[in-house]
Amino acid sequence: VKQVRVGLVGLGTVGCGALNILQKSAELMTQRSGCEIKVVMASARDLTRSRPCDTTQLELTTDPMAVATSPNVDVVLELMGGTDTAKSVVEAALQSGKHVVTANKALIARHGNALFALAAQQGVQLTFEAAVAGGIPIIKALREGLAANKIEWLAGIINGTTNFILTEMREKKRTFEDVLKEAQALGYAEVDPTFDVEGIDAAHKLVILASLAFGMPFNFEACYTEGVTKITQADIQYADALGFRIKHLGFAKQGAQGIEMRVHPVLVPKTHLLGQVDGVMNAVLVKGDQVGQTLYYGPGAGAGPTASAVIADLLDVVRLMAAPSAAVAPMAVQDSAVKTRAAARIDQIKSAYYLRISAEDKPGVLRGITQALADESISVEAMNQKAPANEGQTVDLVILTNKVVEASMNAALEKISQSAGVLGEVMRIRVDSLN
Ligand code: HSE
Repeated sequence: VKQVRVGLVGLGTVGCGALNILQKSAELMTQRSGCEIKVVMASARDLTRSRPCDTTQLELTTDPMAVATSPNVDVVLELMGGTDTAKSVVEAALQSGKHVVTANKALIARHGNALFALAAQQGVQLTFEAAVAGGIPIIKALREGLAANKIEWLAGIINGTTNFILTEMREKKRTFEDVLKEAQALGYAEVDPTFDVEGIDAAHKLVILASLAFGMPFNFEACYTEGVTKITQADIQYADALGFRIKHLGFAKQGAQGIEMRVHPVLVPKTHLLGQVDGVMNAVLVKGDQVGQTLYYGPGAGAGPTASAVIADLLDVVRLMAAPSAAVAPMAVQDSAVKTRAAARIDQIKSAYYLRISAEDKPGVLRGITQALADESISVEAMNQKAPANEGQTVDLVILTNKVVEASMNAALEKISQSAGVLGEVMRIRVDSLN
């Protein structure tokens, strides 16, 4: 049995998780890959910290570059996160002729194009299953399982932290801040939780999925990104009363004006499977032209799930070391077929909308609002207004509209916000029945 030497960069949650699998399931890993896989070296910022894994047999260093360039390492697992040092480390490893397995979504979404070119030039693998939706094998599904299909669209809950926050706010009426703190304590959130709550982490993952679905270079700048920080307890309850759940979704879709890439809150029917994906779980719904809709569900964060994906990639790499020509193209199509595609702007998409308008409770206010919608040919599908508790109090008007081009909705919202009796900013959330 051939031996493959692995170097770990990063000994955090995922790094330790990966090390534990390789040590505790060593025999199974050999059965699966045909090789003996041995972790020989690891780097971590702080070597004195106590960790939930056994590093006694490894050569340890604080310098990630030492792992990336070590002559004793065949495959590098980049599990440190971040984009600057991680990029240099991955480049150095590829340049040293090593295969790299990464869980780093920001790195792939922002620098993937150059990194894959470098890997191809060096004749080595760069794999990233763990970068998207943690333990769900969605990269493999898109690249291999669905290879017969033209992908028409995909929609996914791809950030566990925000899904956990929205679930707890709905089920237990907890506050946003309170649940976010718990998500951080549970290790779900990014080091900077802004990445989670402002949708950036989801955008990284969505951009990766979109590129594989449509065979195009990564284009992070073209992704419309909106987080969950404006969602209130009231919105969640109003949506519930109308038969919807508010979910933070990523969409990649062939639209009339180009490829739509967007992450934002969406009202989805309670009865839809995606509406029932709760807590830290992730799920990706993919529509292929042959297979129809398929749904992939599982834990999107945490040591075990993410390490599970890292090790699956490592086993692939190990098998390919014996037969490099059998590699699946990293972008799902041959490099020569990867082509840039027009990106749709967010105001070109078509969607139904949920509007929550705070207004004075007096005659004529509703007329101004419906006039503004009518002027843009927007039709009201449902409307809800709770009677104010006391006279003179403001009321929340909740409206569901038909599907319109977002530019028309923007124009209507402009008029509504200036309409008599309307107070403050109108809350607008897109609605999608995911059909
Ligand atoms: N912060 C991420 C999440 C971790 O909450 O989904 C997994 O990428």
